[in-house]
Amino acid sequence: MALSARKLHPLFAAELTGIDLRRPVAPAALSAFRAAMDEHAICVVRHDAPLTNEQHIAFSGLLGPMERGPAPKIAGTGIRLPHPEIVDQSNLDADGAVYADGDRRLAYKRANRLWHTDMSFYAVRATYSLLSAHEIPVVPADTEFADMRAAWDALPAATKAEIEGLKAEHSYWHSRVLGDGPEPTEEERRTRPPVRHALVHTHPGSGRKSLYLASHASHIAGRPVEEGRALLRELMAFATRPEFVFAHRWRTGDVVIWDNLCTMHRATEFDDQSYRRDVRRTTVRERDPAAVDA
Ligand SMILES: [Fe+2]
Repeated sequence: MALSARKLHPLFAAELTGIDLRRPVAPAALSAFRAAMDEHAICVVRHDAPLTNEQHIAFSGLLGPMERGPAPKIAGTGIRLPHPEIVDQSNLDADGAVYADGDRRLAYKRANRLWHTDMSFYAVRATYSLLSAHEIPVVPADTEFADMRAAWDALPAATKAEIEGLKAEHSYWHSRVLGDGPEPTEEERRTRPPVRHALVHTHPGSGRKSLYLASHASHIAGRPVEEGRALLRELMAFATRPEFVFAHRWRTGDVVIWDNLCTMHRATEFDDQSYRRDVRRTTVRERDPAAVDA
């Protein structure tokens, strides 16, 4: 069956049919999928049952070099998902129980409720994120997305001229603290030093210009910190105006793939003490980060 896309928002986002991410994807179907991603930036693929971790990893690996976390510990000794490619975005601890309210790990996860693009705090940016729904609360727990190409297009010419060529400094710890997480220890800080990225870039897949923003962005290189922060706040507010935003209402079995180079996203608030939400993410990078250091 040929791939077909149904638009979910006037500016971006589409639901794809004619592709099943649980099965091997032929090269022609993969090209069609990439073209759909370049056009729509957010693609939803629904399944009647969740992907297995292995299926999730296998499809993600077709899209480029995958992010791999630290080597997993032995199952049952502190990690719920023993796959270095999968980021556990659930509210569940190693034993599958809901995190307690005061848990430091939950506090940091709640910072995902701020608008961001994944991994902008790394020198090698993330391209695609693939979020797979295993268990979804009965109450709304949407993910919202904002279109950074449309936001760029809509900016006043004077703002475009002002910000083109600027670089923002991104830090994982900036967004954790902004999201009411605890101050990191010096040791934690050293694990993720800040990096700089262009604030405006040409989206490689479409050739369209795009903002590259995130709550990880702390200030503007070469400008007084407060002045840079004010500019970033202003741009974040503009880029997340309702007309640029699409909200995805999850169902178990959904996989949502987004292009981090031309969108932002955020998790929305739900009662994470009463409801289980098990969603799992893989992430694809622009290039293999290990190769940079070689
Ligand atoms: Fe995210």
